[in-house]
Amino acid sequence: MKKIFVNGYGSIGSRIASFLMDDSEITVTGVGKYSPDEGVNQAISRGLDVYVPKDRLAKFAGYDVTGTIESALDDSDLVIDASPGGMGFRNKQDLYVPRDMMAIYQGGESISGNMAVSDLLFNSRVNYDHIAEKKHIMQGSCNVTGMGRVIEPLRIKYGSRISRFDVTLIRRWADIEQKDKQILDTIEMSENPHHGDDAKTYLGGATPLFVRAVKVPTRQMHLHIMDVRFEKKAPEPSEIHDIFSDEFGVARLWTAKGTKDVRDYAYTMGFNFTDTNMLHIHANMTASIGDTIHMMYSDDQTGIVIPENHMLLQAMLFKRSYDVAFSHTESVFHMKEKKTKLESHFAKNTG
Ligand SMILES: NC(=O)c1ccc[n+]([C@@H]2O[C@H](COP(=O)([O-])OP(=O)(O)OC[C@H]3O[C@@H](n4cnc5c(N)ncnc54)[C@H](OP(=O)(O)O)[C@@H]3O)[C@@H](O)[C@H]2O)c1
Repeated sequence: MKKIFVNGYGSIGSRIASFLMDDSEITVTGVGKYSPDEGVNQAISRGLDVYVPKDRLAKFAGYDVTGTIESALDDSDLVIDASPGGMGFRNKQDLYVPRDMMAIYQGGESISGNMAVSDLLFNSRVNYDHIAEKKHIMQGSCNVTGMGRVIEPLRIKYGSRISRFDVTLIRRWADIEQKDKQILDTIEMSENPHHGDDAKTYLGGATPLFVRAVKVPTRQMHLHIMDVRFEKKAPEPSEIHDIFSDEFGVARLWTAKGTKDVRDYAYTMGFNFTDTNMLHIHANMTASIGDTIHMMYSDDQTGIVIPENHMLLQAMLFKRSYDVAFSHTESVFHMKEKKTKLESHFAKNTG
């Protein structure tokens, strides 16, 4: 049985820890908390052991914590770092490298510059087989993961017939759980968004991908508006949709009016954390105009990266082939079942 520690128990860490508890091949050593707040008791009530930094132990006097993060790491085979962006780099230097242990980092980190946590940004659809013996790997952020899930199948089908991808990311302001985070009534423009460069690290630097981003006051997912330009005439929308019929983690929806409809359906169906864990092509918005396909898809910001982390840890810990890892991830996340439910609930209105 392999032991995994989840360092950070926020939007991402809490989800990863919860799904790992459903995996019979893994023992969750525990989770790392840094602030003495209700999150500690919430984690304990979910059956998790909570560990805190050695130098903050005294601050957690009123809580039933199990021990120090340092001791939990000593007792783990791999750590999933789910700290706020940039902290993962510090943790790598201070905690993981000295223990010579394997670590997975999240999308707020970097794979270039002097704060790089790794030289590989993971996307299971593209570079699962490139992991080799690497000990430190970064999972792409939600937007970066989402772009890969759409672009890679299109590239495989059409290759050099596609001359460019232009994507406008409409980013959510905060996550559902981040109740203390104020949502400002503005549309904020992002200068030099990192998402295109991040995606090109696994898609290839020469990929004709151009990304713009704005942030809007919602907690309900990201929306990507993508134009795919072809050398000659673009295919029909139905052909584009067919490409994704068997695609992992991509559902095609016709009748969702907005991103909240999708989140509400996940809530009604009792999906864990009200996540779908996938992205949703809003098929009613696809248009073929001359040489260009217009499409829109929403990206479950918190959920989409969780099965990706699960794929990645299998490659690192068990050295599994893609197919074996994929079927195990499927047994934990039930992605096919969720996709079928979503596609049938939001099916094309033929009446
Ligand atoms: N939220 C998303 O939609 C999303 C999607 C994809 C990727 N990501 C990436 O995932 C990472 C985590 O994001 P998040 O949204 O989960 O953040 P979050 O909700 O703010 O949670 C961060 C957690 O990290 C803990 N923490 C604080 N200092 C730490 C340290 N030095 N080492 C380890 N943990 C520490 C915090 O603990 P306390 O609460 O105890 O202070 C908190 O529980 C970021 O890299 C982010 O970019 C986020």
